[in-house]
Amino acid sequence: MTRPTPSTYRVKSFGCQMNVYDGERMAEMLAARGLTAAAEGEDADLVVLNTCHIREKASEKVYSEVGRLRREDGSRPLVAVAGCVAQAEGEEIRRRTRDVDIVVGPQAYHRLPGLIDTAVAGGHAVDTDMPADSKFGALPGRARRAAPSAFLTVQEGCDKFCTYCVVPYTRGAEVSRPWGQIMDEARALVDAGAREITLLGQNVNAWAHDGRYLHDLIEAMAGLSGLARIRYTTSHPNDMHDGLIAAHRDIDKLMPFLHLPVQSGSDRILKAMNRSHDADSYLRLIDRVRAARPDIAISGDYIVGFPGETDADFDATLKVVERIGHAQAFSFKYSPRPGTPAATMDGQVEAQVMDERLKRLQALIGQQQHAFNLASVGRDTTVLLERAGRHPGQLIGKSPWLQSVVVEQGAIGDLVDVRISAAGPNSLSGVIAQKEAA
Ligand code: 5AD
Ligand code: SF4
Repeated sequence: MTRPTPSTYRVKSFGCQMNVYDGERMAEMLAARGLTAAAEGEDADLVVLNTCHIREKASEKVYSEVGRLRREDGSRPLVAVAGCVAQAEGEEIRRRTRDVDIVVGPQAYHRLPGLIDTAVAGGHAVDTDMPADSKFGALPGRARRAAPSAFLTVQEGCDKFCTYCVVPYTRGAEVSRPWGQIMDEARALVDAGAREITLLGQNVNAWAHDGRYLHDLIEAMAGLSGLARIRYTTSHPNDMHDGLIAAHRDIDKLMPFLHLPVQSGSDRILKAMNRSHDADSYLRLIDRVRAARPDIAISGDYIVGFPGETDADFDATLKVVERIGHAQAFSFKYSPRPGTPAATMDGQVEAQVMDERLKRLQALIGQQQHAFNLASVGRDTTVLLERAGRHPGQLIGKSPWLQSVVVEQGAIGDLVDVRISAAGPNSLSGVIAQKEAA
């Protein structure tokens, strides 16, 4: 069946920050093709659902989203499923629902315009290739306007094969983008108004190109005047090298924040997860990072209820969390993913046990996060104002430690000094003492 050529689009991204980045790049590509973004609340001719496959709940969301795109008169937009569900399920998606026209994986989305043409002509528009020629070379330049805080993918994919994780299958092997391409994009983002850049990668600290490493890239980027802040995420403990640790001591523009997942505090479980580090080596690594940058905020990811996890294993996780003292951390119930080794392991943990463990872990992390926030009260801190708050005139920005800070004045994009007056579990509030020179 042929379909009308779309003239407006909407891209909706789920999951991680890399999906947000990919969503922006797809939007830029569609704009370069002459499509315009549908206004807030208005119907779009083309909807791209940029999906996440990391846990079952995230993955199933795509089908309810597709269903919701039907309009009252029974018609629907042209629908593209992109992202990690597209990669993992491919053709299966079109077998499960006839309401999807295009399926495109994370390494093939530079081909989206061609797929739209195919779908409009009534052809077969499924592309889950992982082409050797990187998509980045084929994408148009960055948009002329960037948000104050921008993402920049520098590394993609994963070779670590943790036994629970779909990423090596959905994003492919570890690939580092070349130095020059990244620096060009960073300059374009700064020219377009970005004051902060977060370097993204599934294993961002494994980035390497021509004998240069992530800390070299950060150092070069710190030389861009106009750029005030640099962050990177997500890191793997085994790629946390001395140069990067030293960068936290030496490079002012590198923010004092580290997201370094450990997943579990039990060596037995870490082994079954194929993490190739143990709890103690992780804690020693954190000690080294803190020696280089004492005020650094430590974030992490935890999985509870991995197959075979006993009460004692879970207690070991709580102990590690206590030792670390997180500024924030994410925790998840283990979700078996098709095709991963852990999905067929013995000792799958009962849902009720997982619920209870998750509750206890989240309570502990919540306490730590609140304590971390309370310690900011009475201090002055720089805040990059990123978006409007809930009340008129209110703005929300981020502290160097990635805390959300609410202020009552200022403009989006300002970097301001804020005296913190109050702290809750999830955010700070304060009064602007001074606006810094741009
Ligand atoms: N089940 C639950 N959590 C998972 N994660 C990755 N795979 C799974 C899974 N199968 C978590 C890890 C990872 C984060 C992005 O998601 O903690 O670091
Ligand atoms: Fe989700 Fe992982 Fe894919 Fe990001 S890389 S969208 S977290 S499955």
